[in-house]
Amino acid sequence: MAKKASAINGSPRKGWNTAILLEKALEGAKAAGADTELFSLYDLDYKGCVSCFSCKRKGAQLEQCVLMDGLAPVLKKIHACDALILGSPIYFGDVTGEMRSFMERLFFPYASYDKAPSSFGKKIGAAFIYTMNVGADALEKIGYQAKFDATQGLLERILGHGETLISTETLQFDDYGKYAASAFDAAQRAERRKTVFVDDCKAAFALGQRLVE
Ligand SMILES: Cc1cc2nc3c(=O)[nH]c(=O)nc-3n(C[C@H](O)[C@H](O)[C@H](O)COP(=O)(O)O)c2cc1C
Repeated sequence: MAKKASAINGSPRKGWNTAILLEKALEGAKAAGADTELFSLYDLDYKGCVSCFSCKRKGAQLEQCVLMDGLAPVLKKIHACDALILGSPIYFGDVTGEMRSFMERLFFPYASYDKAPSSFGKKIGAAFIYTMNVGADALEKIGYQAKFDATQGLLERILGHGETLISTETLQFDDYGKYAASAFDAAQRAERRKTVFVDDCKAAFALGQRLVE
């Protein structure tokens, strides 16, 4: 049976930076023989963890969060996949609210409050793709790198594997001339889109391929 790879888009925009990189990663997974599926969180009706603690009850061995809302079918598919790629733009220094809520629902049922280690029940290939305005040289200074490292640690702890792909100084608008955005160098962003972002896409493809292989 073919392996399965899923990608989760935490950006409200389809066809923009995060979505493009996730699609490239899935193309790589497909090239490695996987069946692939992309989910857009902004299409789904759901909330974050509601602290019901059903997953922490004695004897509870849940395959996924008990809440039956728009996220439930996606969580079920994730539990059946061999590779998982999460993607989010950075909004005010963190992943989007929708991605954060999704992560609570995905990870909390497998995060052990017992002495036993946290476990998803199997090891899968997992990665996080981030896109953002800031430049790579600022990541350490403004604390982003520490957050990315912490999330990679979470992937490793729960899913058994974690990788990180960071795409910086992305093109935010199709035409910077239409927006009050003089803090940005539109020409530099457009050039980067044709050069560095293309390399980011290649890295995303290789990532997807690697996660499946
Ligand atoms: C509400 C909002 C907040 C943002 N905050 C940040 C930020 O704190 N740091 C940053 O580097 N970029 C920030 N950005 C820029 C986005 O992260 C960047 O444009 C990203 O590539 C957008 O992803 P998308 O094209 O997939 O939607 C913000 C964008 C929006 C809309």
